[in-house]
Amino acid sequence: MSDVKFKKIISHAKEYGFVFQSSEIYDGLSAVYDYGQNGVLLKNNIKEYWWKSMTQLNENIVGIDSAIFSHPTTWKASGHLEAFNDPLIDNKDSQKRYRADNLIEDYIQKVQKKLDKELEKNKKRFGECFNQETFMFTNEKAKKYNKEIDDLVSSLNKALKDENLDLLKEIIVSRNISCPVSGTKNWTDIKQFNLMFSTKFGASSETASNLYLRPETAQGIFLNYMNVQKSGRMKIPFGIAQIGKAFRNEIIARQFIFRMREFEQMEMQFFVKPGTQMEWYDHWKKNRMNWHLSLGLDEKNYRFHDHDKLAHYADAACDIEFNFPFGFKELEGIHSRTDFDLINHEKFSSKHIKYYDPKDDSKYTPYVVETSIGLDRMFLAIFSNSLSTELLDDGSERVVLKIPKILAPYQCAVLPLVKKDGLAEYAEELIKPLKLKFRILYDEKDAIGRRYRRQDALGTPFCLTVDYQTIDDKTITIRDRDSMKQTRIKVDELEKFLYKSFDISNWLK
Ligand code: GAP
Repeated sequence: MSDVKFKKIISHAKEYGFVFQSSEIYDGLSAVYDYGQNGVLLKNNIKEYWWKSMTQLNENIVGIDSAIFSHPTTWKASGHLEAFNDPLIDNKDSQKRYRADNLIEDYIQKVQKKLDKELEKNKKRFGECFNQETFMFTNEKAKKYNKEIDDLVSSLNKALKDENLDLLKEIIVSRNISCPVSGTKNWTDIKQFNLMFSTKFGASSETASNLYLRPETAQGIFLNYMNVQKSGRMKIPFGIAQIGKAFRNEIIARQFIFRMREFEQMEMQFFVKPGTQMEWYDHWKKNRMNWHLSLGLDEKNYRFHDHDKLAHYADAACDIEFNFPFGFKELEGIHSRTDFDLINHEKFSSKHIKYYDPKDDSKYTPYVVETSIGLDRMFLAIFSNSLSTELLDDGSERVVLKIPKILAPYQCAVLPLVKKDGLAEYAEELIKPLKLKFRILYDEKDAIGRRYRRQDALGTPFCLTVDYQTIDDKTITIRDRDSMKQTRIKVDELEKFLYKSFDISNWLK
């Protein structure tokens, strides 16, 4: 997808009240965004879809809402103070700052594109006789590109694993990687940069202590693990889910709501018996992919990416990647976090937080498998994938947001054909008993065709039109957003129709 298409997505989000640059009247705050009147509805619907799937479909998962502030020792114990760093590099000419690993990853993608192009060219040339495997082993160019990718990936992983900043810089210099803005290779040395925001806690400057804004919601779950287990009499395996804000002082903050400095996470920590973590890791990989697929976006948009470089706390990890407007990128992480966090909180707090397992009369620190998805990234995945421009039979174009119906900001719009002759009053009466049960918009401005277009652009799945026949025979027109087909049903059957269309159990089967 081109930059032009991505710009269209961003401007559509603004024009239709989904996402605004934060503090826009002061020229904005980099990588901070506000959700508008329609964006907040879409966001809430995504949250509800996730929350229900976690806490209502699974008897052994409960939810919490922990504070954003936590005791500063939390971040010593979790390792974030020491290890939550990104390698940053500056270009001296453009004064632009980059993540060194991202510069290398972008370069790898460029080589991959060259390889893909070569492949396509030869596929076309040889048609049915083309054998990809043989091609990869015999074609000189393909061999060269493949080797370059393999070498780069393994040096990058080694440099990140060993935190070897000199090696990282050497990769950039040896590959002649240049700054996308100035085009020069005039780089500074690479430094580690801690991503946590700090603030002061307390009224007077003498007694105030340093505090951090949480960079992940997970730690609030670990700190409450014992409280929930005891008060809920939870038996292992069990899970704790949470949705909440997280903050990271990201080095590069581009790509709209993909990488933000203030964002929201939907995380679930699943506490399991040591030794069973790989079983549960596989279980949650499948479960989370199925959750994504339940929304009906094309399967081709998703793929797993297993991590070679594991975070300081993990013994296995993968991402669910989504085909964003700028290519496949991480949407969700699934991590087997071992007992790293609980053991450390036990050590730093000197409190006993072992689990007593009545099944075999043993005591242990549970292992944890976590699923962690960025709410804003999920929003972007849905929004960018849903926006399209269609050429209609009469030669005109319509812009339509084909959001999965269950997530649409409004479920239907009620539109009187004209304002006069009692149609508007009829429509308003029709809405009254329904508006607490469904998300309904009422619109009487402009010609009906223009109102349909506006609802298409907002992603409203159904338009219900009250016309003269409605008054006569108590039937109403339902226009489907995606097919634009119109059908008539009895007004009495409307509530049943809406219940059926938006019954979450049909989606989260
Ligand atoms: N507790 C584990 C954890 O935080 P992560 O891979 O760093 O793992 C999980 O983050 C998810 O949070 C990511 O897959 C992504 O969807 C989202 N996320 C992370 N950083 C983000 C940012 N700066 N802006 C928006 N979403 C972000």
